[in-house]
Amino acid sequence: MSDKGFRLTAPGLDKDGLELEVRSGTLGPDVVSIAPLYRQAGVFTFDPGFVATASCESEITFIDGEKGILLYRGYPVDQLAANCSFLEVTYLLLYGDLPNQQQLDDFLYSIGHHTMVHQSLLRFIDGFHYDAHPMAMVSGVVGSMAAFYHDSMDIDNRRHRDIFAHRIIAKIPTIAAAAYKHSVGQPFIYPRNDLNYCSNLANMFFAVPCEEYKVDPVMSEALDLLFILHADHEQNCSTSTVRLAGSSGTNPYAAIAAGISALWGPAHGGANEAVLNMLKEIGSVENIPKYVAKAKDRDDPFRMMGFGHRVYKNFDPRATLIRDMAHKVLGRIDGVDTPFFDLALKLEEVALKDEYFVEKKLYPNVDFYSGIIYRALGIPTSMFTVMFAVARTVGWVAHWQEMIADPKRKIGRPRQLYIGPEKRDLVPLSKRT
Ligand code: SDX
Repeated sequence: MSDKGFRLTAPGLDKDGLELEVRSGTLGPDVVSIAPLYRQAGVFTFDPGFVATASCESEITFIDGEKGILLYRGYPVDQLAANCSFLEVTYLLLYGDLPNQQQLDDFLYSIGHHTMVHQSLLRFIDGFHYDAHPMAMVSGVVGSMAAFYHDSMDIDNRRHRDIFAHRIIAKIPTIAAAAYKHSVGQPFIYPRNDLNYCSNLANMFFAVPCEEYKVDPVMSEALDLLFILHADHEQNCSTSTVRLAGSSGTNPYAAIAAGISALWGPAHGGANEAVLNMLKEIGSVENIPKYVAKAKDRDDPFRMMGFGHRVYKNFDPRATLIRDMAHKVLGRIDGVDTPFFDLALKLEEVALKDEYFVEKKLYPNVDFYSGIIYRALGIPTSMFTVMFAVARTVGWVAHWQEMIADPKRKIGRPRQLYIGPEKRDLVPLSKRT
């Protein structure tokens, strides 16, 4: 790598080779612009899973996987978690700076007065079978929002983009709660404008028409922290899905619905549900060695859910904060059974001493402890990934807005390494043996 860039030499290139521009960001690794590769050298790059590929420029979130650093618009996530509310952090991710008091008050008023959904949307929820997975309901309903809010879907209109952002962030808890109520056969509880974002979500989940429900402040505080820590994570699978879907110019509700579907996978946001199911399967501390051995066995498809990360090769800073919150929550909610938490702590201790996990740098990630808190709050396992989606909607919207506002935006269209059959002529059916 010369001081100006990369010089690529290869057969078929002239003797000076091909100069590729190297660009530096504010933080993190430099990037090599590879666009000339195909034009001038006739080759594609090949990077399945995009392990070493930067797909875009972004100002929103920075991760240093080696040092376990996570910054939202430059602010360390632990400082935001200790000093801000989820909607304050939401404002930061959307607009680039923390709000002053007036800006925050205006933002809270706007979000707080857009929490209701069209009554017909609620009839969608009623159309699902009682045992439909809540992620199926939420992704379906969010995609259908394009049928209701087409009055502000001109993606090139800044005002429309802002209206969309406030609408989807305000309504996603209402949709999540409606899916939950449908799954437990209880009546839908309308949002209340006198409650803050997380207390309103808790009330829509757990209130029932036949008696007064008081939101436990511990629940509201725990949800607020969990949502801050799940709000964004640069170009993860679901955010990249939102960017790719959105790059076609489709409406933003369709792009967010695509992100929800990508998040559902157990390798991604579905891991929090998979962790609890794994802990149930492990059952007791005595069984930990057997499951650690299964995780290490290349012939065994079992993976230690909640461990490992594409970027973090050190502790996921969010996992540490969530584990500390789990200690706090479990100690403050009456009657919470803690065997899963005790089992998780022991599993972490055993795994982190095992050379396989150490050598492959597999540490607990954001999903390892979050489900334990959700369970302690009374949220069923099937709703864990929906809770992740409620929080990550903020990051998806911020990245969608950043992409759409970029005058240089292009539709995403990767190429491939074709390994199929050579060109061949068709044999008529009558002659096929
Ligand atoms: C999230 O990208 C993001 O930012 C995601 C996220 C976000 O906020 O958006 O942080 C949220 O998705 C967190 C990750 C949740 N998923 C899980 O907890 C599922 C379990 N973890 C793994 O499936 C895995 O670690 C991934 C998917 C998270 C990362 O996979 P990579 O980067 O593709 O790594 P890999 O699969 O190539 O694994 C490298 C090696 C492999 O062994 P070898 O083939 O080299 O011998 O480590 C092994 C893997 O077999 N390995 C594991 C393991 N994770 C990786 N072995 C056992 N248990 C595991 N959990």
